[in-house]
Amino acid sequence: MAVTSGKGGVGKTFVSANLAAALAARGERVLVLDADLGLANLDVVLNLHPKLTLHDVFTERCTLEQAILPAPGGFHVLLAGSGMVEYSRLTPDVRDKLLHILETVKPRFDWVVLDTGAGISDVVLFAVSMANDVLVVATPEPTSLTDAYATIKVLATQQNRRHVGLVINQANRPGEGKLICGQLQQVLQRFVGPTPGQTFKLELLSEVKNDQMVRQAVLKRQLLLEHYPGSDAAQAIRALATKLLEQRAAQP
Ligand SMILES: Nc1ncnc2c1ncn2[C@@H]1O[C@H](COP(=O)(O)OP(=O)(O)OP(=O)(O)O)[C@@H](O)[C@H]1O
Ligand SMILES: [Mg+2]
Repeated sequence: MAVTSGKGGVGKTFVSANLAAALAARGERVLVLDADLGLANLDVVLNLHPKLTLHDVFTERCTLEQAILPAPGGFHVLLAGSGMVEYSRLTPDVRDKLLHILETVKPRFDWVVLDTGAGISDVVLFAVSMANDVLVVATPEPTSLTDAYATIKVLATQQNRRHVGLVINQANRPGEGKLICGQLQQVLQRFVGPTPGQTFKLELLSEVKNDQMVRQAVLKRQLLLEHYPGSDAAQAIRALATKLLEQRAAQP
């Protein structure tokens, strides 16, 4: 599953890490891959100081197994760390290496979450293209929504996706997510076209409140789910995990 966004700083890493913890708490084997190769920050949020990263795997200085690290929250991570700037351009080599890594880790985990960069650069779009499911994170700000729309449009047209999950993060009032999702869905449907069979579904998977506890957790470099498990945002993330588990269970 790819977690992506149009605009940066909207909460992808927060959602990826805490969703991973929520799924792990339900007994799932989860790996979060820091797919924002140029500007990785999963290690910062989790307060990890990795000695081995994707960079070392790419350069064959360590094996993939050695770079898969346990994270607080009971899941595993494959971190990019800093120094991956040279991979922020999508070369055939980077492409092959990422695909190979995913193929290798897939059988060992129930969920592989790709915490991607923001925007529609080729690296981001490639990372998203590797995922079965996409979760777009957006905040209610107009700039974030415009960029989310652009991202989803590209996913629908270039990747031919007919279903994208939406998380409205930092919501200011209950129901805001539903309203925004409905508006985006309308514009997108018009774009994707009225051709029969060409429906596009943007599904609101979660509305996470603007919650001071999230900022507190990030400042302390701790998981929200572990340190403020009763907060509104933590409850929303656990509900998101439940929904994803139910959807998976319902799949044929
Ligand atoms: N629900 C929320 N309530 C309050 N603050 C939030 C919430 N979600 C995220 N934030 C704040 O937004 C900041 C950015 O979040 P995060 O690092 O997860 O974004 P990102 O999309 O991964 O950013 P980047 O594009 O740089 O990778 C966090 O440090 C946190 O302070
Ligand atoms: Mg991030």
